[in-house]
Amino acid sequence: MRKLRDPIPFVCGTDYFEPNFFIEEGYKNTALATSDRQEIKIPQFQFNKERWLESILNRRSVRKFGKKAICQLDFLKILQILKEPIANKSDEDIEIYLVVNRVEEIEKGLYKNEQLIRAGDYSERAGYLCINQAIARDSAVTLFFVSNYQNYQTAVQLAGLIGQRLYLVSEYLGLNCSGIGAYYDDETQEFLGTEKDVIYAMAIGI
Ligand SMILES: Cc1cc2nc3c(=O)[nH]c(=O)nc-3n(C[C@H](O)[C@H](O)[C@H](O)COP(=O)(O)O)c2cc1C
Repeated sequence: MRKLRDPIPFVCGTDYFEPNFFIEEGYKNTALATSDRQEIKIPQFQFNKERWLESILNRRSVRKFGKKAICQLDFLKILQILKEPIANKSDEDIEIYLVVNRVEEIEKGLYKNEQLIRAGDYSERAGYLCINQAIARDSAVTLFFVSNYQNYQTAVQLAGLIGQRLYLVSEYLGLNCSGIGAYYDDETQEFLGTEKDVIYAMAIGI
């Protein structure tokens, strides 16, 4: 490595504001979600409180996986977490597809929730779809969240909430995890066989 001739200038990412009419209008138009739904379902988590708190404090996004398989029990725990309701009144629905790359005693392939849609090794495909990111290829499981949302803001907030649950449960189980926001939208839809918008992806593994 060579030393730089000049020091790198410090640039603060948040000390300036650049108004953008298009973004502001879009934000305002999607800020208010309307729903008639009254019933709020409360999730039931059974975690050791202290270890859960540690998971919150220690959670980080993984930068590289060792291409190792996770055990079936951990995978089932992840599926169970995905089924837990989110206490909110919105009508938005998030569907989750899972590309299983490396899970002990679970067939590789594309799953929708717990249902195997297509068996096969789709690890290379998942990596490509996430703009050639190795984390999506080398994971144990790569997840894609899709939605036919009415309100984009609400849908991405719900996706973020599920994502944060996955981050924390991964940390709790001793697995690694990263959110993925970069993927080819159209090709991912085609691969999943859905016309719904892909709004988030995640990779979990070790
Ligand atoms: C919505 C979202 C999208 C992300 N997309 C990517 C991605 O496409 N590729 C990647 O390597 N990391 C991605 N990340 C991970 C971020 O780089 C990481 O969260 C950020 O650097 C902060 O680090 P931390 O999660 O360890 O606190 C994403 C994270 C989130 C929450």
